[in-house]
Amino acid sequence: MTDVTETAAAGTTDWRAWQDSWDRQQEWYMPDREERFRVMLDMVEAFAGPTPRVLDLACGTGSITDRLLTRLPGATSVGVDLDPALLAIARGTFADDERVTFVTADLKDPQWTRALPHDSYDAVLTATALHWLHAEPLTALYGRLAPLVRDGGVFMNADHMIDESTPRINAAERALRHARMDRAKEAGAVDWADWWDLAAKDPALAGPTARRFEIYGEHADGDTPSVSWHAQALRTAGFAEARAVWSSPSDAMVLAVR
Ligand SMILES: C[S@@+](CC[C@H](N)C(=O)[O-])C[C@H]1O[C@@H](n2cnc3c(N)ncnc32)[C@H](O)[C@@H]1O
Repeated sequence: MTDVTETAAAGTTDWRAWQDSWDRQQEWYMPDREERFRVMLDMVEAFAGPTPRVLDLACGTGSITDRLLTRLPGATSVGVDLDPALLAIARGTFADDERVTFVTADLKDPQWTRALPHDSYDAVLTATALHWLHAEPLTALYGRLAPLVRDGGVFMNADHMIDESTPRINAAERALRHARMDRAKEAGAVDWADWWDLAAKDPALAGPTARRFEIYGEHADGDTPSVSWHAQALRTAGFAEARAVWSSPSDAMVLAVR
């Protein structure tokens, strides 16, 4: 695997190396990240077959799109995000792939769907992103997403979803997870802050990285409501059915059918 520090120092940017580096950083927080992607794509295939049109919502570097096209080569994907650095990695990676389009938009903007190239999708997919929004803008976002999903199509959100009614379970799980993360960090794991320091050193990412800090600061503030909150909000937004199709002790994936 190419080391991003080497390619940055050499003045050549290896987009696939940045994808791998992003994956390792995200996996430090979520060792089961690939498992949730696998279940997500199982359910896309179940509802939309082998050639779905997908919206990769808050796509970052396009990790969901990447797994989608490996699993279902006949799929097409539109990735939407606001972060110029992560979008630069996404656009660099998929530059020659006609199945993929990227759009810059703020999901809190009431008009954001106007930037999309299509008005209907078989599946809208998102992971580790909507906890950057507070409950009120997230409810509004769900209201704008429902009309984008075709009848019988699906929305899936894999994210931190906290059940406040189980504080002892939450605390025990968190303590174990953080102890593991601390050990991995001592062994050299790259966390969020370290990763952005690396990005700022790559000449191709320095400018977009500075801009993303102007937009978000370190990280936007948001909420982590429970599975039942998400399922209820999605039904209110116009989805016919909604429930968890995957969960871990800290995270879950809610699927809603239009
Ligand atoms: C932790 S990353 C996850 C990216 C990707 N889904 C993945 O699993 O690797 C969270 C993403 O949400 C995006 N995001 C957060 N708030 C957003 C907003 N208001 N509009 C667009 N994108 C947003 C961020 O820019 C970032 O790319």
